[in-house]
Amino acid sequence: METQYDVIVIGSGPGGYVAAIRSAQLGLKTAIIEKYKTLGGTCLNVGCIPSKALLDSSEHYHNAAHTFAEHGIKLNDLQVDLAQMIKRKRGVVDANVQGIQFLMKKNKIDVHQGLGSFVDAHTIKVTPAEGEAKTITGKNIIIATGSKPSSFPSMPIDKKRVITSTEALELQEIPKHLIVIGAGVIGAELGSVYARIGSKVSFVEFADSMIPTMDKTMGKELQKAVKKLGCDFYFSHKVTSVENTGEGVVVKADNPKGEQITLEGDYCLVSVGRRPYTDGLNLEAAGLATDPRGKVEVNDHLQTRVPHIYAIGDVIRGAMLAHKAEEEGVYVAETIAGQKPHVNYHLIPGVVYTWPEVASVGYTEEELKGQGKAYKVGSFPYKALGRARASMDLDGLVKVLADKETDEILGVHIIGARAADMIAEAVIAMEFRASAEDVARSSHAHPTYTEAVKEACLAATENRAIHM
Ligand code: FAD
Ligand code: NAI
Repeated sequence: METQYDVIVIGSGPGGYVAAIRSAQLGLKTAIIEKYKTLGGTCLNVGCIPSKALLDSSEHYHNAAHTFAEHGIKLNDLQVDLAQMIKRKRGVVDANVQGIQFLMKKNKIDVHQGLGSFVDAHTIKVTPAEGEAKTITGKNIIIATGSKPSSFPSMPIDKKRVITSTEALELQEIPKHLIVIGAGVIGAELGSVYARIGSKVSFVEFADSMIPTMDKTMGKELQKAVKKLGCDFYFSHKVTSVENTGEGVVVKADNPKGEQITLEGDYCLVSVGRRPYTDGLNLEAAGLATDPRGKVEVNDHLQTRVPHIYAIGDVIRGAMLAHKAEEEGVYVAETIAGQKPHVNYHLIPGVVYTWPEVASVGYTEEELKGQGKAYKVGSFPYKALGRARASMDLDGLVKVLADKETDEILGVHIIGARAADMIAEAVIAMEFRASAEDVARSSHAHPTYTEAVKEACLAATENRAIHM
């Protein structure tokens, strides 16, 4: 393998591998370094893909148990085979990881397995799990080392009973009572998985709602849906201690009145956010440091203070999302190749893959209020959709926020079946700075869920929704 490159990418998650592919497409001699044996980073190995695999499996079970009879499908002796669910999930991960391996080969990208650490600003030492370390040099270096779960001293992770998302994707038994600390994206998704297959799930959340950073309507509606799975919520609670008792966990928290509550469960999932990961990178050798929150600092061009060293994805500021990391990967590769690319951070959508799904882009209503912006709201409920009736997916709504004067769409928030896919229409519309009426006047196939977007835009335009 070569030792001198135009571009060296450290980390093979969605930021890193996409940066490598785009660099290679642009004719740059490219290497990627990954400390684990498999490529794909958090997203493919222990994040987006395996969690969606379990979400889909558990959703199938839930539907079989609760809605199939209504559809006229009778099943006897329905059971969850958790071992098989996890096995299928592993198969999905393996196939995806092999896909990345194939893409590296196809694009003639050298893959160096091992921990990458800076020797100086152009030289990286690669230390594999087994065998000799080597050094490679790059004209440009892209740091794409991602993130790890974060925790607090009051909730020490032991990976057995007090677990992170990584262990929650590999449990050997269905918890009887899963206590989830943090009702954000991971808590909502993985809490749903286990609630659907029979666990009692209790959410202990510092804020006053689920998914508190999204539009408040979304959190409220999601809570209603998740409550139907039999979950309990302890909002505005401050966790004071988490203890592994050997057979289970004891979680203590202070309620809003300052009184202590005690919850006993068999597992505790800590999902209180993730932290940027730079361990072992030896940033100092390249003249780099992290900010007080552990993030690699970058300018608007994603350059660190050493101009030929870039950083992307979860390890820098901004949303910790795979598609954000991918956009940044493309951005940096094109910048290195002398192009003038652009990332519209305002229009990076956020999706929660619960059922119903939640998807969002642009400003929330709370943000618009905070800005003192004059806006109008158009909402349309799923229960008024023929498509939703046919499938019995009646929970949900589309909420469109538009500028009161110009009618430009400022934010779209969807909770409901297939919201994750539907948000793309809103992103495109907003990229082209569409007005609510532009979307309202575009034909949407009938019967589809996307009609709810059209109807919400009609509602936002002049309260002209047809089916409400
Ligand atoms: P990562 O994917 O974290 O990859 C970094 C890679 O760098 C890792 O493979 C790591 O081993 C490697 N590395 C680190 N240091 C070194 C080193 N010194 N040398 C060599 N290699 C190194 N996002 C979504 O958009 N949609 C989702 O549905 C979604 N679901 C998620 C579900 C879960 C349970 C979790 C935990 C996360 C989820 N995310 C999701 C977030 C998503 O996984 C991350 O935003 C994304 O993986 C970030 O990509 P990245 O390339 O920055 O880093
Ligand atoms: P998060 O930031 O989404 O949620 C963390 C939650 O924990 C918040 O609601 C917060 O108020 C709460 N919290 C924080 N400290 C607490 C405490 N001491 N006690 C109780 N509650 C506390 O982080 P999460 O869910 O861990 O996910 C990490 C990252 O992974 C997110 O940035 C997310 O973007 C990404 N991710 C994305 C997914 C997707 O796109 N579908 C799926 C899963 C993760």
